[in-house]
Amino acid sequence: MNYEERILEEIISLQPVFWENKKKKDSNVLKEMELSYEDIIDAEKRLRRFAPLIKKLFPETEDGIIESPLIEICDMKDELEELYNKDINGRLFLKCDSHLKVAGSIKARGGIYEVLKHAENLAIKENLLSLDDDYSKLSDEKFKKFFSNYKIAVGSTGNLGLSIGIISAALGFKVTVHMSRDAKEWKKNLLRQKGAVVIEHSEDYSKAVEKGREECLKDDRAYFIDDENSKDLFLGYSVAALRLFNQLKKEGITIDEKHKLYVYLPCGVGGAPGGITFGLKHIFKDNVHCYFAEPTHSPCMLLGLLTGRHSSIHVKDYGIDNITEADGLAVGSPSKLVCKIADKLIDGIYTIDDDELFKLLFLINQSEKIKVEPSAVAGLLGPTMVNSDENSIHIAWATGGLFVPENLYNNMVYKGKELLNK
Ligand SMILES: Cc1ncc(COP(=O)(O)O)c(C=O)c1O
Repeated sequence: MNYEERILEEIISLQPVFWENKKKKDSNVLKEMELSYEDIIDAEKRLRRFAPLIKKLFPETEDGIIESPLIEICDMKDELEELYNKDINGRLFLKCDSHLKVAGSIKARGGIYEVLKHAENLAIKENLLSLDDDYSKLSDEKFKKFFSNYKIAVGSTGNLGLSIGIISAALGFKVTVHMSRDAKEWKKNLLRQKGAVVIEHSEDYSKAVEKGREECLKDDRAYFIDDENSKDLFLGYSVAALRLFNQLKKEGITIDEKHKLYVYLPCGVGGAPGGITFGLKHIFKDNVHCYFAEPTHSPCMLLGLLTGRHSSIHVKDYGIDNITEADGLAVGSPSKLVCKIADKLIDGIYTIDDDELFKLLFLINQSEKIKVEPSAVAGLLGPTMVNSDENSIHIAWATGGLFVPENLYNNMVYKGKELLNK
């Protein structure tokens, strides 16, 4: 039995695995890709054009830039070392997209970006806006009325829908969110409160996306945001890398051959971790190592890359149920766009049990007083799985949590504590 066959057997039997991507290429491969560094810069510039509008609509942002803190988590590092009986060489940071302004999750990076780009295109086409205008005028009643003639739809496990629902409604668009069966009730309620139409599906995420796509085909004023294929979503996520570069610089951290960066990203369909990896590789080249983390019950990207079948697989093809408390990661088939890119860029993928997610959720609450949802802690296991040296910088990407209702959150913290005491 070869390496891939052995891991496949373990995945099917739902054991947590660590898979090293032997197909990874050096960063010169970026030159062969369809998207480029200039595309990331273009996305960043667009977000800057929109900053005056975002500042007006969401005063909680810093000058209209939607960003999250990077913090060092020394106490959590001690907890991880003790729990997993492994030394973590180097420093450990948390990228707190769990507290990303406006929509409280990593998905807001892509979701908000694509809606803004669509709004810009529509307004420019009708000669209502030009690139050097002050974009804060887009909050005028006249624009709200204009955008209300258009519809936006998306399929989501929850957080992408939230981000798109919030920004679309703020601009005046009519917005429909097709939610998969895994989506949490509170996310649906919050979206309805924000003015979105929520359609509930009894099937999984891939079906919710399909239904949203179908709905938009019938209506030429409807725009579908396609989490499985969208280059705009992908580029919106990738801008995080430019921001992270500046945050590391502020901390006095330089990444080079002697100071490697290790980044651990929770993965659902792959858009958010894929876009961020793409951006990080452009900036740090071969000095950054990116790992994706998936639930043992939803290892879609791992199966897609390991078997080479990419987006044509569904975890059910391997008898895996795609049921996990990590709702944001409950995806059965990976993104076609991301499979192609991740295949050449990522160092590996590991899977993690739901019980482990709750333990980590409890530990980060106790050690750092940080509130996250189950999907968001998957990255915290990463530093215990790689061999690094004392000059290394590890970043676990915490991907959501800000809006989780307190009573539900407290139940999850309690569950984590119980599991640790078992
Ligand atoms: C909290 C959270 N983390 C991670 C992800 C994974 O992002 P992607 O589906 O783009 O891989 C999601 C997706 O919804 C999410 O909600």
